[in-house]
Amino acid sequence: MHLVKRPRRLRSSKNIRNLVRETILNPADFVKPYFVVPGHEIKEEISAMPGNYHFSIDQLLLELKRVSQLGLQSVILFGLPECKDSEGSSAWQKDGIVQQALRAIKAELPELYLITDLCLCQYTDHGHCGIIKNGEIVNDLTLERLGKIALSHARAGADMIAPSDMMDGRVAKIRTVLDQNSFNNIAIMAYSAKYQSAFYGPFREAAHSAPGQGDRSTYQMDPANSREALREIELDLAEGADIIMVKPALAYLDIIKQAAVKYNAPLAAYNVSGEYAMIKAAAEKGWLDEKKVVLESLTAIKRAGAKIIISYWADQAIKWLKQDRA
Ligand code: PBG
Repeated sequence: MHLVKRPRRLRSSKNIRNLVRETILNPADFVKPYFVVPGHEIKEEISAMPGNYHFSIDQLLLELKRVSQLGLQSVILFGLPECKDSEGSSAWQKDGIVQQALRAIKAELPELYLITDLCLCQYTDHGHCGIIKNGEIVNDLTLERLGKIALSHARAGADMIAPSDMMDGRVAKIRTVLDQNSFNNIAIMAYSAKYQSAFYGPFREAAHSAPGQGDRSTYQMDPANSREALREIELDLAEGADIIMVKPALAYLDIIKQAAVKYNAPLAAYNVSGEYAMIKAAAEKGWLDEKKVVLESLTAIKRAGAKIIISYWADQAIKWLKQDRA
């Protein structure tokens, strides 16, 4: 055969494959989520997310020292409060669980970059991400609360606030409150295109945040839509988001790609709890090779255009990458 083009030439040895590889995962790409609970000496595994735990602050500090030494540079914190009410008021208390954790971590590990998830659903007794009046989730009332939570996180030492509630106008509200209180340097990573996804199932067990009634379809996005994702991202950027996010990741690579091509803000993707649980379960049964499938999935998320990957595998992925490089 006379073939001028032979793509296999560039696959013929390890060195040439390395030379033409387009996407390379770095330890600095990852953010790991952590669930912090009140109490002492608690480290309880979350059943639908093996290898992830509810940590009390003392145990979380030990864990964060371990992962920092590995090379993890950034974490996102989720709090499970002692008590819930209809307003979610434990979310903005000075001595709330996330606020206490932030102060403790900053004191022991000042280098670690601390992001906080900002939402009401772990703190409300009804499990919704907003304030309910007459059976409806009221947007603008909720914004007031979100502003208070953001300020309390900033005061406790958060480096970045990540609103995940999907209320309209939250980024503008949070930016205004932070700036009015001289926290101009605290960044906002907006969960911009956050879909109403069944892939959050294991997280809701971990965060005790499943809605008591109904679902989140009046605020989170319809999985059938992609143009709407771009509108959401545009709004968040106009309101002052520093980083935009697509969530979940693996079933939404097309959205990640479009966002990466269209906007020049740093783009994050959240490799969510259900994506984690699926691969873990198959690996435990011996049906998939966990390391290979995970590194392939994370590479796909980055190849689609996400620079920042929030993943429950963050520390494990860093370990694997280091092994492979050694
Ligand atoms: C809070 C929040 C959720 C997740 C992150 N922040 C759950 C939800 O919206 O119900 C999901 C994360 C995951 O599944 O890993 N609103």
